[in-house]
Amino acid sequence: MGFGRVEYMRWAKAVPGGAAFRLSASGVLPPPLEWLGDPPSWEELRAGADEGYGKRAVAEAIAGAYGVDPRGVVFTGGTSEANFLVLAALVEPGERVVVETPVYEPLVAAVRALGARPVWLRRRPQDRFAVDVEALRRLLGAGVRAVLLTRLHNPSGVDLAPGTLEAAAEACREAGATLVVDEVYRDFLGEGASPVAATLGEGVVTTSSLTKVHGLGGLRAGWVLCEPRLAARIHDVRDHLEVVAPAPVLALALRGLARRDALVARARAQSAMGIPRVRALVEARPGISWVEPDGGICCALRLPPGVDDRDFASRLKEERDTVVVPGSFFDLPGWIRVGWAEDVGHTDEALRRLGEVLDAAGAGAVRSSR
Ligand SMILES: Cc1ncc(COP(=O)(O)O)c(C=O)c1O
Repeated sequence: MGFGRVEYMRWAKAVPGGAAFRLSASGVLPPPLEWLGDPPSWEELRAGADEGYGKRAVAEAIAGAYGVDPRGVVFTGGTSEANFLVLAALVEPGERVVVETPVYEPLVAAVRALGARPVWLRRRPQDRFAVDVEALRRLLGAGVRAVLLTRLHNPSGVDLAPGTLEAAAEACREAGATLVVDEVYRDFLGEGASPVAATLGEGVVTTSSLTKVHGLGGLRAGWVLCEPRLAARIHDVRDHLEVVAPAPVLALALRGLARRDALVARARAQSAMGIPRVRALVEARPGISWVEPDGGICCALRLPPGVDDRDFASRLKEERDTVVVPGSFFDLPGWIRVGWAEDVGHTDEALRRLGEVLDAAGAGAVRSSR
């Protein structure tokens, strides 16, 4: 057991806020407040708290949005709490949890905090950061309690290839492990995207929230989608932390869920704004490369050979007042994560500044045709 420091969290809370130009975010900015309608009334707030575990109306709204059984919806304080509660409900100290890498650090920090041991499943840039189900099968076995994946993958923004989720779920079922898919970025995907992982049924869990796509991170409104039996176990864990639901959060989450279509459309437009701009930045520079994301508002970009990502990010901040996330935070040294949460003007200027520092680091001259 060990609640060690989560280095990325420390950095994310301290560094980007102070910069004039930010390419560090992975979620969209909050929508105009009017989008949520009228503020909650006192009656609504009282009713929310009176519901005990409460959350029934919100659970039904979430279940309706994602096509799952409301008895398997657990409302949580964001995806972060959802991930922690699921792991706490599933994992005993000493057990092993397969975790993807490159990895969003708080996921592995939660595994360690619970006294479990991470086992790495590598997602390789040369394979478009795909999940290799055969490699996963080799890692599964006695003592592996859970497998943790992100969809879209943070930091790359890549979706799981068709069939991967189903094959991974089957491999996990055979091994007696639970597949936990953090789908906080999933709704960036268009209508053709496969359903949320939890619709695959027994042994597959989704965690998510209104944070990244809906722009309502400050609400701390998240959820677990799972089998009712696991949901009951998660409620047992949560009884150690919570008496009643946070009524204002529930009331506002209901409003956000009711306007989900508009919020999601807004997020997808933001995604579509940035991807061609980063593509142009990369294609103009032979010394760098990227893996084009399947959605979202951030991606992973490989720096010129030999350039240290932390030094590069520091230099960009010092010389151009612009922030990107060093890949080392995700176990992806030599890369940076570039995001575009802000408006077009901000993004264009921030990318121009990034381009200048990339050029100074040897990313190469502009190709003649562009
Ligand atoms: C994969 C992943 N999960 C969870 C979170 C945090 O989500 P929330 O704000 O809903 O706790 C992040 C934020 O960066 C993330 O990248």
